[in-house]
Amino acid sequence: MQKLWGGRFEQKSAALLDSFNASLDFDKELYAQDIQGSKIHARMLAKQGILTDAEASAIIAGLEAIAEQIQNGAFVFDIAHEDIHMAIESALIERIGDVGKKLHTARSRNDQVALDFRLYVLQKNLAIRELLFALLDSLVSLAKVHTTTLMPGMTHLQHAQPVNLGFHLMAYAFMFWRDIVRFGDDYARNNYCPLGSAALAGSPYPIDRDFTAQNLGFAAPTANAMDSVSDRDFALDMHYSLSMLAMHISRLSEELILWSSSEFGFVRFSDAYATGSSIMPQKKNPDVAELLRGKTGRVYGNFVALLVVMKGLPLAYNKDTQEDKEGLFDSVRTMELSLRILKELLETSTFCTENMRKACAKGHLCATDLADFLVRTGIAFRDAHHITGKVVAFAESNHLDISELNAQQLCALDSRIPENAIAALCLETSMNARNCFGGTATSRVIEQVALLENQLASAKEQWQKESACRK
Ligand code: ARG
Repeated sequence: MQKLWGGRFEQKSAALLDSFNASLDFDKELYAQDIQGSKIHARMLAKQGILTDAEASAIIAGLEAIAEQIQNGAFVFDIAHEDIHMAIESALIERIGDVGKKLHTARSRNDQVALDFRLYVLQKNLAIRELLFALLDSLVSLAKVHTTTLMPGMTHLQHAQPVNLGFHLMAYAFMFWRDIVRFGDDYARNNYCPLGSAALAGSPYPIDRDFTAQNLGFAAPTANAMDSVSDRDFALDMHYSLSMLAMHISRLSEELILWSSSEFGFVRFSDAYATGSSIMPQKKNPDVAELLRGKTGRVYGNFVALLVVMKGLPLAYNKDTQEDKEGLFDSVRTMELSLRILKELLETSTFCTENMRKACAKGHLCATDLADFLVRTGIAFRDAHHITGKVVAFAESNHLDISELNAQQLCALDSRIPENAIAALCLETSMNARNCFGGTATSRVIEQVALLENQLASAKEQWQKESACRK
């Protein structure tokens, strides 16, 4: 087969070169973006008088027919065409004849691939944010139900202070909220159109880059052609944001795995989202959460791979950047699926609130509250700390939690402990005492939910506007 770039070549390329050089096997994922870009490019060329209207119409109709063929699986991909750009251009020429050869006027594959990949990244940015909104709907709904559900809050994975489950879940909700903001920032930073940069130096034709940018849903054209054909920051931004998201999902998954163990017993997964063991009949394993945690590895790996590809590249385009696609496709697919399944996992799990409450009766969670109470009666904090230490030691030696002591036992331990100090050992009181802004008190968690819901509503509005521009 004669290559589209084969004019100066006398010999056929080696079969081994074709399979090494080609990206068609994976970049065919970009066919829709490639055709979208080519159609607007043809319209722009006609508007500028570089093509006639009739030529542009023939090209656009041909491209639409090819898109349909690819969609319904009738298109035959041949790696001799090297990549999706040349596969489509060759098919166009075959279909509509010589006029198809005019499509590539004032364009290079360098700005073409930069455009296609950027369109993909921006479209997936919107799709990931949509899935994040859906996940947050579930997470926040769950948090709302549990603003009074006591559980032990931990530091160093040791019981620390009583909190409520709603507070704990809202901590994750705020992480995912920051992911939404981060993806939104990426979107705004990268919403510029590289088409028209041509090979590296721009085009000598009277092209209208504003028209192209506007009709492809971008804020504006990119400002420097050399940067535009070699820049993959937009993909790295996506990798970083996906890596942060993967890390957040992994942390939540880790907690769900711990909570589902018999040592914790805080959560039970539904049979639909748990798996069995091939040898131990009694087992119910948290494979879904484990896989969510494990997927983080490939997402980080794909990120680092592209950072390394880019680090030594001189300007402008280098073929190395063909290595930019597979990793990102993989990370996007992985995270889309992860977001969907995490939502299902949360919605179908049962939170064992009785066990959470029982766990609060271990670890003397209200010790700080007793010390704080004593301080309010006029005792210096260091002394209050010491007195409380004695109370803890007494409880320990009697195999009790301080929350299980009665007033008599408590007061007998030190003459400075007043009778009403027993109230400080109540878990609910302790939890609700932490009522500063951002605290775990039920009223403050309800406030956090309202705050986040407000922020989500405006982020959704912004997302809707951006989506409408990309339709
Ligand atoms: N398949 C190539 C890529 O993915 C397209 C651009 C090729 N440009 C070139 N001058 N060889 O990067």
